[in-house]
Amino acid sequence: MDYLFEEGTGRHLLLLHGTGGDETSLVSVARLLDKEATILSFRGAVQEQGMNRFFKRNGLNQFDYQSLDEESDRLLAEIYRLSEEKGIDIADWVIVGYSNGANIAAYFMMERETRLDKAILLHPMSLGHKKSARVLADKNIWLSFGEGDPIVEKAVFEELVTNFREQGANVAVEVTETGHQVAMPELNSAKKWLEEQAWNL
Ligand code: MLT
Repeated sequence: MDYLFEEGTGRHLLLLHGTGGDETSLVSVARLLDKEATILSFRGAVQEQGMNRFFKRNGLNQFDYQSLDEESDRLLAEIYRLSEEKGIDIADWVIVGYSNGANIAAYFMMERETRLDKAILLHPMSLGHKKSARVLADKNIWLSFGEGDPIVEKAVFEELVTNFREQGANVAVEVTETGHQVAMPELNSAKKWLEEQAWNL
């Protein structure tokens, strides 16, 4: 997979962009969260009419679960391979995912055994897949939702939050008045969570 790696002296942020983005899309967000961060940022390997994604869909919010499974395994394998190559402990990463990138992160944190256990998920949603009964007590997840989001319905955002909570994850939720786009108030809240909670775990 294509990726960008920038070594820093701060936190380790693993970036997963939204539909139509690439490995550079969330770099400014990462720098805002921690200007000294080490950054590993992937480009989604699936193409949809010229747009990069992390898994296939058959129309808006019609998800291809086979692709979701295969691409989750492919992405995790790349994360493990590159972390080893760069000498970074898997548990040191904080995932920063937006939209489609947040959705694949939520999926593999729920459905795969992984020491990736901290995530900032910007505007994610439940993908409606059949869930495992995995215990997620080691997961610390911050999620945001915009009341005016034309893509993510409040009910499917809340379903994701409920799923994480029911499986024992430690969850923080930020609701704003925005739409699907990433805005400063939520980034300030995510930064506070990162500084006060996630980084001390
Ligand atoms: C998805 O396909 O993952 C969601 O609909 C969000 C997006 O549009 O990327």
